[in-house]
Amino acid sequence: MNAITFFSLKGGTGKTTLSSSLGCLLAEEGYSILMIDLDPQGHLTQMLKGKPAKNQTSLYFSLIHERSLTGATVPTYHPRLSLIPATEDHLYLNNALISKPWREWKLKDALSAMVPFPYDLVIMDVGASLNLITYNALFAAQTLIIPVLPDVFSYLSLKNLFTFLEKTCKDFRYNLKMIWILMNKLNNHRPLDRENRDALKKYYQKFLMPVMVREDPKFSQAIKHQIPITTFAPQSTAARDLSKVARFLESVLSQYKSRE
Ligand SMILES: Nc1ncnc2c1ncn2[C@@H]1O[C@H](COP(=O)(O)OP(=O)(O)OP(=O)(O)O)[C@@H](O)[C@H]1O
Ligand SMILES: [Mg+2]
Repeated sequence: MNAITFFSLKGGTGKTTLSSSLGCLLAEEGYSILMIDLDPQGHLTQMLKGKPAKNQTSLYFSLIHERSLTGATVPTYHPRLSLIPATEDHLYLNNALISKPWREWKLKDALSAMVPFPYDLVIMDVGASLNLITYNALFAAQTLIIPVLPDVFSYLSLKNLFTFLEKTCKDFRYNLKMIWILMNKLNNHRPLDRENRDALKKYYQKFLMPVMVREDPKFSQAIKHQIPITTFAPQSTAARDLSKVARFLESVLSQYKSRE
């Protein structure tokens, strides 16, 4: 099972925008994708118009009562793109997990129990906070993508995140196979953006994705219309950059697969 989590300690870096767009793009290209909205804000769910049916199992119910995740999955606009939406009880998930044994691993266990696994890739979107939902999102993934903006605060929050990851992975004896920093909203015409991009290249070279997503107002317009950017404006800067991200991930994920 291949799973990617989008997470950053800083809010508003593009986790939901990038993860949802990538999921849609890959589904349109023929991959079978499961997206999981782990953010109680539910923006991913809104973007993908994922409406749970009445009496449907929720992620909360699956994780807390150890029931199959299959029942928590809803269809989206695309037949190859499924979603586990953020439902109202999501707000209480973190607290409910506290008293559970192996509470940080519930999502990983639930995904592993789906045999045979019906998706090519799982993509998870998490809110910018550190709680048990975040731990579950990290441990259920092999790849972490950290979107960063070309500003000083994004840059500074990376240091804290890497400190957290190092300690957490050591304490829980968990190894993320890949960590990628994805620079988002880059405007190469702004000197400060270029400065921050170069600082990232210098100090985080090993983790910095060689492809970046430039700032593009088409993203907000696509979100407003709840249409994936690749459908809304396929020739836009955003759609083209996103395709490069998809090709990059395709290549690194297949390299890891062949080594296993
Ligand atoms: N490349 C981009 N160009 C222009 N606007 C963008 C780009 N990426 C994201 N945005 C805009 O930035 C805003 C924040 O994006 P988004 O909601 O995806 O961030 P987030 O990291 O998920 O936020 P949160 O931490 O609240 O979950 C949105 O209005 C989105 O449209
Ligand atoms: Mg978000």
